Amino acid sequence: MDLIIHKQQNNYGGKIVISGAKNSAVAILPAALISNKLSVIHNIPDITDVKIIIDIMKEMGHFVLFSNNTVVIKRNNNCSTIFPDSVDKLRGSYYFIGAYANFLNKFTFKSCGGCDLGDRPIDYHLEAFKKLGASFITSDKGLLCDFSNMQSNAITLAYPSVGATINTILASVQVKGVTTIYNSAREPEVIDVCNFLVSMGASIKGIGTNTIIIRGSKNLDGTEYTIISDRIEAGTYLSLGSLPNVSKITVCNINPLYLNNFLTALKEIGLSIHTTDNSVCVSKNNSMRSHHTITGPYPEFSSDLAPILTVILSLCEGKSSITETVFSNRTSHIAELNKIGAHISIEGQKIIIEGKTKYTGGLMTSHDLRCSAALLLAGIASGEETIIKNIDSLFRGYDSPIQKLQRIGILCNTIN
Ligand code: EPU
Repeated sequence: MDLIIHKQQNNYGGKIVISGAKNSAVAILPAALISNKLSVIHNIPDITDVKIIIDIMKEMGHFVLFSNNTVVIKRNNNCSTIFPDSVDKLRGSYYFIGAYANFLNKFTFKSCGGCDLGDRPIDYHLEAFKKLGASFITSDKGLLCDFSNMQSNAITLAYPSVGATINTILASVQVKGVTTIYNSAREPEVIDVCNFLVSMGASIKGIGTNTIIIRGSKNLDGTEYTIISDRIEAGTYLSLGSLPNVSKITVCNINPLYLNNFLTALKEIGLSIHTTDNSVCVSKNNSMRSHHTITGPYPEFSSDLAPILTVILSLCEGKSSITETVFSNRTSHIAELNKIGAHISIEGQKIIIEGKTKYTGGLMTSHDLRCSAALLLAGIASGEETIIKNIDSLFRGYDSPIQKLQRIGILCNTIN
């Protein structure tokens, strides 16, 4: 699928309501299987990654209803023990391993996928599971997982990995005794998963810190829970406020605290930011100054927002840089932005961005989710007709992006 952004140079602007967080949803949906009681989860974004997770659950035999951003889930105790090949369509499918450890001793899991951002192994997950007593055999059918001898333990993660932290919490939440995870990730989505499990009756302390303590408790209950909104979606739409042809943008249904580091960067660049408890408004006053940042685990600058910040910095005065430390290869947007007028180069892990770009519009090709978002921003900034080929990945993480953009006056549509 391709996206056309139509020629339109006038001032856009307005309000965008942010949807539920992708990286919470893809973890909390499998987590709901930990209880054999029914759970109701609200604010689930209508995105491809969620639909794939739901399809996998249905294919495994569980009961799942998805309507109006609410999911109803009930585990089938006689579910399949072999995961379908579709688990390799997204990264977050690895959360089925931690969730299934609670009710099946043995099952077979094929490899998980996700955006191509360089090497993305799951060795930290498997190491932590092994510390909890699990064992794994790689076979031509996939990873044979054995969780029959689970025990609590103290686990130190080699890196504060979001996925490994959540997966270790999922796997240990019903294991007798106390499991401690040192060097755990502190992302808001990790906190959200913990809060969800606590609402089911789990005992988790240290939520939001780098040491999480889980006291295993059996028979977690069903729950009704509303997941947090998506800080990366919010950051993406806020970035519209930096474009030459966009006036003021307000995003609502978002906790500004999740965006702390991003908003600080926008202020340092020279944008005006106004926040309330659940909204952020961005507008331009002065010229935009260059900026230098380094990505890292939360609360450092989010790697997911780096491709988006690249576009903002390309519009600023002078030379800026972003050093990417989380993923080994998150630069697919750069060659594409250069096709329509940017001057961006890569030196090792550092992205160097020359300022004052006047985007020309034209043809670009998207390669992954946040690359799609960056190309979209640059296409809008050009004010000229722009086509983005392979835009499908945008829909993996953004709920109704075309409708949201059209509502603030941006004329764009997809073509098959
Ligand atoms: N890593 C390993 N081994 C592991 C796990 C991670 O080497 O077992 C490495 C990764 O390859 C990466 C780094 O550690 O270089 C960080 O990975 P992390 O585990 O923190 O990330 P993730 O769980 O794979 C999640 C989000 C990403 C987001 C990162 C960082 C999900 C499904 N994905 O990925 O989201 O960039 O955390 O915040 O939650 C996105 O939304 O665009 C996206 C890529």
